[in-house]
Amino acid sequence: MTQAFEALKLTDKVYWVGAIDWSIRNFHGYLTSRGTTYNAFLVVGEKTALIDTVKPGFGDEMMARIASVMDPSEIDFVISNHAEMDHSGCLPETVATVRPEKLIASKAAVPALAQHFHNGLDVTAVANGETLSLGDSELTFVETKMLHWPESMVTYFGADSVLFSQDAFGMHLASAERYVDELPWDIVEYETAKYFANIVLPYAPVVLKALSALDDLNLDVDLLATDHGPLWRQTEHMDWVTGKYHEWSKQEPSKKAVVVYDTMWGSTDKMARAIGEGLSDGGAHPKLMPLGGTHRSDVATEVLTAGALVVGSPTLNKTLYPTVADVLAYLTGLTPKNLVGGAFGSHGWGGQGSAHVKEALEKMKVDLVAEELKIQYVPDGDGLAQCRAWGKTIADALMERV
Ligand code: FEO
Repeated sequence: MTQAFEALKLTDKVYWVGAIDWSIRNFHGYLTSRGTTYNAFLVVGEKTALIDTVKPGFGDEMMARIASVMDPSEIDFVISNHAEMDHSGCLPETVATVRPEKLIASKAAVPALAQHFHNGLDVTAVANGETLSLGDSELTFVETKMLHWPESMVTYFGADSVLFSQDAFGMHLASAERYVDELPWDIVEYETAKYFANIVLPYAPVVLKALSALDDLNLDVDLLATDHGPLWRQTEHMDWVTGKYHEWSKQEPSKKAVVVYDTMWGSTDKMARAIGEGLSDGGAHPKLMPLGGTHRSDVATEVLTAGALVVGSPTLNKTLYPTVADVLAYLTGLTPKNLVGGAFGSHGWGGQGSAHVKEALEKMKVDLVAEELKIQYVPDGDGLAQCRAWGKTIADALMERV
């Protein structure tokens, strides 16, 4: 009889048994406008391993896919590559159903899983480089600390040349297609960058180390099986995504100048538009992002490949406009680097808004190459000319760095 959910065979011994979340739009503050997937994998040898589980609420879908291949109680090992709840959330119910010989995770995952579930999960810790025999084949575990949690690891299945990379190289993209090469490239490119900017960027220095350690292992990889979104199977695409992870981790400045702002009565918007003209005058490529219609996570995506960050806020009740405060707090946590920038805004009588922007940019270590720019009430022609000249000042400083 046809089942609602079935596994997809990926290689001789590997099956995808994950879940598709078509409806999620808020992934801890990240706008997942195309949904996501929680990928789990079954490696079927003389012994069988399940690699990662899915977010709470999707366990039935995963179990049904597993059941299309084998009786779930025949699974010998459950591997937890990453303790975050979108992959570990169904571990307790999975372990209770499957009763595996071992639940395996990194050493650092042992306390992390205990502090998530408080239910005595019996975890067998594996060391970096340790292997697990499946009888006729084996799995190798490689720690990837802080890519992107302390306990994160990846699992390599040499028999079929599959690297199970947990969050690394993923994207939030729900689709019926399971492979990158079955999807429009512009969507793959954008969603991969958005994922890196919003999830991986704070750990960029350790990403480079982790990639280097993986390179040193010289693994033969025919399938890069991430825990989110479609999988990478073509060499040119795997080379592209690993190359991009190197490039994005370095955050070398480009000519792009992101202008993020909101407006109360239209004055800060007028200022931003004139600043954009000035940025162009100086050879920068302005990207205006009015927060009335732009999500914080899309701002982060643009900042990933920018050389300048220019932020404007009206003054409301002696402080920042709420949307500007939101995006600044979010960007501060993501720790973008190598940016020049400036703070601007219109105000009525207090004028504290742009000063708070300046403080936030300083905290982010943005190099403020232009003095804070404030205009009272509504900018006139001279005021807008001043904004244009201010934008050019920032562009001139940027051009010296690219
Ligand atoms: Fe997809 Fe860090 O969890």
